Amino acid sequence: MPERWMPDSWRAKPILQVPDYPDRQALDDVEKQLATFPPLVFAGEARNLKKSLARVAAGEAFLLQGGDCAESFAEHGADNIRDFFRVFLQMAIVLTYAGALPVVKVGRIAGQFAKPRSSPVEKRDGVELPSYRGDIINDIAFTPEARIPDPRRQIEAYRQSAATLNLLRAFAKGGYASVENVHQWMLKSVSGSPQSKAYSDLADRVSGALDFMRACGLNFAVDSALGTTNFYTSHEALLLGFEQAMTRIDSTTGDWYATSGHMLWIGDRTRQYDHAHIEYARGIKNPLGLKCGPSLKPDDLLRLIDILNPDNEPGRVTLIGRFGAEKVGEYLPALVRAVKREGKTVVWSCDPMHGNTITSTSGYKTRPFDLILKEVRSFFEVHAAEGTYAGGVHLEMTGKNVTECTGGARAITDSDLNDRYHTVCDPRLNAEQAIDLAFLLADLLRKERAGRATPMPAAAGL
Ligand code: PEP
Ligand code: CO
Repeated sequence: MPERWMPDSWRAKPILQVPDYPDRQALDDVEKQLATFPPLVFAGEARNLKKSLARVAAGEAFLLQGGDCAESFAEHGADNIRDFFRVFLQMAIVLTYAGALPVVKVGRIAGQFAKPRSSPVEKRDGVELPSYRGDIINDIAFTPEARIPDPRRQIEAYRQSAATLNLLRAFAKGGYASVENVHQWMLKSVSGSPQSKAYSDLADRVSGALDFMRACGLNFAVDSALGTTNFYTSHEALLLGFEQAMTRIDSTTGDWYATSGHMLWIGDRTRQYDHAHIEYARGIKNPLGLKCGPSLKPDDLLRLIDILNPDNEPGRVTLIGRFGAEKVGEYLPALVRAVKREGKTVVWSCDPMHGNTITSTSGYKTRPFDLILKEVRSFFEVHAAEGTYAGGVHLEMTGKNVTECTGGARAITDSDLNDRYHTVCDPRLNAEQAIDLAFLLADLLRKERAGRATPMPAAAGL
């Protein structure tokens, strides 16, 4: 019998990556205040996402999950949200049209603030300060005051998440995401690039198909599958005091749900089966992600799946591999075999970002685009060899024209990184690189489908 679960039962377990709040009373007060705030998402939405992910697990849809490594207070604004959403829609239409698969859209957004760090301290020029842990915890400025964890930042993160989510809902349901706007989604910053040519051609074909459907009498204003989209939010469930405060009972089912986002994931550094983060995650009914890195042994993975999904509910668990281009072929097959052998239903997703981070000669943390593509290709190859389904990707990306990952069609070099290196944490794909990757994915998906010769699934309901 598993121990009784409560939203605070994680507090009795060992825990890693906790900020050192100097003012415990202030932290307590903030958590109490957050617990009185309205939920950001509804349980029914999380259930709908779980149903969609169940279709991904069955090989009938593809999961596109992506966004900032860390959202920042300073960069919060309508233009950034809109540009991110546009690139996301562009990627999704490329996958849907060229890859011929419905796409489940999940942003790393509206709550992706807390960051696990490889070291609790950061040294610069002989000065040592606590590491930056994300805007929900402390400030990125390298001063002793800025790095003190401040609980009031949690209220600001809540406010920003609510405002972001509000705009995303408006975009998704208010007409912006209608496929009729397929040409308008193109960003100015991308026009003139090789991706924009490929995208325009595809958008022309989509428009042609729409003209045909319109001529047949279809009305997009009333056909919501084409006029609107479902867009979900996700973040790493790292700051458990915040998550606990946002955990509520769903009145229709009596179940506990995290209401800070639709899907929550557990990071590679905090997934110990007997620690606090897994304890928290097992009790909420949201769909869950679990990051899987090279240190994860097949038996430990099975144990984690049993804890998180004892009833083997489809759509509940998404395994997000982040091995690195050179390691995925070595580590992923054993995990895939163990999961298949035990009959566990999961979504297999590929995070080609976190295993491919290097420090450039110019001193920036970067990721070579070629390695990102290579990890994605290997991920598909492993699943083809094992007879399992490569179900999704998990990306760090932005709609802005940044220079953070090297390579891509514009061949960003080490010395270009300094031009527009804006991330507060890990390097992200810029809009062109993201669309480039979407075309590669569409190609891989087509090949995967040809190998399986399954009929075309319907997008309705996703
Ligand atoms: C992340 O997704 O930003 C992250 C820290 O990933 P991981 O836990 O896989 O290192
Ligand atoms: Co990251």
